[in-house]
Amino acid sequence: DSAVPVITLDGPSASGKGTIARLASQALGFHYLDSGALYRLVALAAMQANVDAHDEQRLADIALHLDVVFSDTSVWLDGKNVGDEIRAESCGEFASRIAHLPALRAGLLDRQRAFRKPPGLVADGRDMGSVVFPDAVLKIYLTASTEERAHRRYKQLMDKGISANIENLLQALRERDERDSNRALSPLQRSGDAKLLDTTCLTIEQVVDKVLEMYAETRDKASGDA
Ligand code: CDP
Ligand code: CDP
Repeated sequence: DSAVPVITLDGPSASGKGTIARLASQALGFHYLDSGALYRLVALAAMQANVDAHDEQRLADIALHLDVVFSDTSVWLDGKNVGDEIRAESCGEFASRIAHLPALRAGLLDRQRAFRKPPGLVADGRDMGSVVFPDAVLKIYLTASTEERAHRRYKQLMDKGISANIENLLQALRERDERDSNRALSPLQRSGDAKLLDTTCLTIEQVVDKVLEMYAETRDKASGDA
């Protein structure tokens, strides 16, 4: 497995991880893992079953037995398309309230690592480079100013015809980032071996190009070292 290259993109909410990771994986012909979707799916399943956010055992159980299918455009839970439902901020919020639980995180580990298949993988989340794929060939910490990220989320919602309030979005982003950064296990944090990519003033295309450039550099270096 370690021969299969992995590129990790970790960073705060709405930094563009999903958008960039998906496009980069397409450009390289690699598989794509949206790890946040798994946490959101556990959150959705738990909310539907009225499971308490502190019930670690039941949440871990849900994580281990998730019946989930990913396609290029959506995700199915128990045979139902929940692509839009899991994107709701309420789902992201619940996800971040349960994501600190060790048994839940452990329950998702093998499922995430199973995405590592030839010819390669691009994975996005919070701990892709630090915990799930520590031997990734390229680790990137993707970020943007909080204001820019709130603005991106706002635009994303408006484009979908969902009304939103920029102040509330800003507040929700700050709270979630703080919770994700301050937990003991797998916190949102730039690890020393991750390259910082600040996208505040960059277009999607520019960011994708940068990621592909960084990947080409790591490969040039690897062949030079050999
Ligand atoms: O996955 P994450 O929450 O980090 O972010 P996302 O959902 O991929 O991106 C949030 C929004 O920002 C999307 O609507 C992207 O199109 C947009 N975006 C952008 O405007 N400029 C960038 N450089 C990157 C993303
Ligand atoms: O798209 P956005 O960045 O807003 O969120 P996401 O990546 O879908 O993740 C939702 C929540 O799941 C995060 O706020 C984290 O609490 C949790 N998560 C995590 O703990 N570890 C990951 N690898 C991915 C997500």
